[in-house]
Amino acid sequence: MRILVTGTAGFIGFHLAGRLLRDGHEVVGLDSFTDYYSVRLKRDRHAELLAAHGASGRFRFYEKDMCDRSALTVVFEETRPDCVVNLAAQPGVRYSITHPYAYQTRNVEGFLNVLECCRHAPQKPRLVYASSSSVYGGNTALPFSEDQAVDHPVSLYAATKKANELMAHVYTHLYGIQTVGLRFFTVYGPWYRPDMAMYLFADAMVKGRPIQVFNFGEMRRDFTYVDDIVDGIVRCVQAQTFAPYEIFNIGNNRSERLMDMIGLLAAELGVTPKVEFLPMQDGDVPATWANIDKLRAKTGYEPTTPISAGIPKFAKWFLEYAMKQQERT
Ligand SMILES: NC(=O)c1ccc[n+]([C@@H]2O[C@H](COP(=O)([O-])OP(=O)(O)OC[C@H]3O[C@@H](n4cnc5c(N)ncnc54)[C@H](O)[C@@H]3O)[C@@H](O)[C@H]2O)c1
Repeated sequence: MRILVTGTAGFIGFHLAGRLLRDGHEVVGLDSFTDYYSVRLKRDRHAELLAAHGASGRFRFYEKDMCDRSALTVVFEETRPDCVVNLAAQPGVRYSITHPYAYQTRNVEGFLNVLECCRHAPQKPRLVYASSSSVYGGNTALPFSEDQAVDHPVSLYAATKKANELMAHVYTHLYGIQTVGLRFFTVYGPWYRPDMAMYLFADAMVKGRPIQVFNFGEMRRDFTYVDDIVDGIVRCVQAQTFAPYEIFNIGNNRSERLMDMIGLLAAELGVTPKVEFLPMQDGDVPATWANIDKLRAKTGYEPTTPISAGIPKFAKWFLEYAMKQQERT
């Protein structure tokens, strides 16, 4: 298949593009290298993809902003993808409190451009797109399942992800585009995002700084190893029996205590953490846990990486890449 993946210089898009290329697909990558976090890390991921797959002739890349409608139209016309995986977005719950317009532009307008391009593409590509577990917002019934109402987002980030699900519904209804929304649950792994808690904790711990733990440590997260997320996305790209409009949770199906994650991470890094307990932050939720029965039933998805196996892989990468990077600067 020829698959257009937006956000290939990003954490999940980089891993997805690598997996699709290893599987023999053609990948059209697109990224604008936003400066939300280290552009150097994004450039390094991109260089890694090129080094591994540039010679195959199956990886084509556009440095474009999907908010630029005419540029995105040209990408669709030149490449005619069979499937589009939209991962490019403005992520981050906390940043949405200080930078609301980045979410309006990248997550709402940018996504509308993707929908419009799919609508006008003669081959009518399937659109698989990133939603988020944050749409469950203030829900308290755990585990979260797709049949629960998601009408109480507690951050603008979550509201834009819910908006994406609604917009996709309209385009499926009006234009027959097949859309698959994926609610990712706290993804982690090598080549991680420096704004995410596990990375921030690792960074503080190796430098001997205290880590800031919110809600006084009473937090639970469904931590999902990036290869498991990528496996779920690939199953959604290839599935034959989907309804025209689908929404799925993709998680690890376990809700881990944050303090257990911190303990594992500290042991891998060989440090004793100093912990500063703080109250709950605005926009955050105390617990997440994915019910994955729907995706399991429709695609056979089964996560295989407990945090005891995934955290050592993240820690190894962190020590090798991230620390070397910091020594250089
Ligand atoms: N990582 C997680 O735990 C998690 C959880 C839930 C949902 N998600 C969603 O999954 C997707 C991928 O997340 P990620 O962790 O890889 O984030 P990321 O920030 O690492 O990747 C996103 C990429 O998109 C690019 N981008 C942003 N706006 C763009 C635009 N207008 N045009 C072109 N490129 C643009 C960025 O430069 C970046 O490389 C996002 O939609 C995110 O909201 C991630």
